Amino acid sequence: MRDDAPPHDVVCHVGLFERQALWNDRPVTLGGIGGVATRPDRQRSGLASAAMKQATACFAREGKDFAVLFCEPHNHAFYRNLGWHEFGGAVFCEQPQGRIRFAVMATFVYGLQLAPRDGTIDLRGLPW
Ligand SMILES: CC(C)(COP(=O)(O)OP(=O)(O)OC[C@H]1O[C@@H](n2cnc3c(N)ncnc32)[C@H](O)[C@@H]1OP(=O)(O)O)[C@@H](O)C(=O)NCCC(=O)NCCS
Repeated sequence: MRDDAPPHDVVCHVGLFERQALWNDRPVTLGGIGGVATRPDRQRSGLASAAMKQATACFAREGKDFAVLFCEPHNHAFYRNLGWHEFGGAVFCEQPQGRIRFAVMATFVYGLQLAPRDGTIDLRGLPW
């Protein structure tokens, strides 16, 4: 932390979620990632990469089947470099109007006990 930074200043955030979901109708426990952000003046110094590695290590310790996040094209390379893969199948989720196919952003997966690349993920709830 810089000398002039306020104490307990947040410079990077990675949110971890747990979700009981389905992959090809098989019950799975997902580790969800969301709210990944580094304060602009601290970007490109390895903070988000370090936090993401801690997050997937945490999911592995907890026995999650695999991890999932949603991201926009300009961040695909960042996640690919951390070992995540774009999910090639269909993702379904709940919205106020009912169950829909989620296609607003790409879904990326990180393999743990399972390493799904295609098929159908049903989030059985809202996206995070
Ligand atoms: C994406 C973001 C979280 C990266 O945070 P960061 O702390 O700067 O990331 P890191 O410093 O760990 O970056 C590690 C490496 O990834 C690279 N990188 C960072 N953002 C990248 C991107 N969008 N695309 C490709 N590479 C990227 C860095 O250059 C660095 O590479 P290097 O080690 O070869 O120098 C940050 O740019 C950010 O907060 N963006 C705005 C919010 C956002 O888009 N969040 C993601 C929502 S899915």
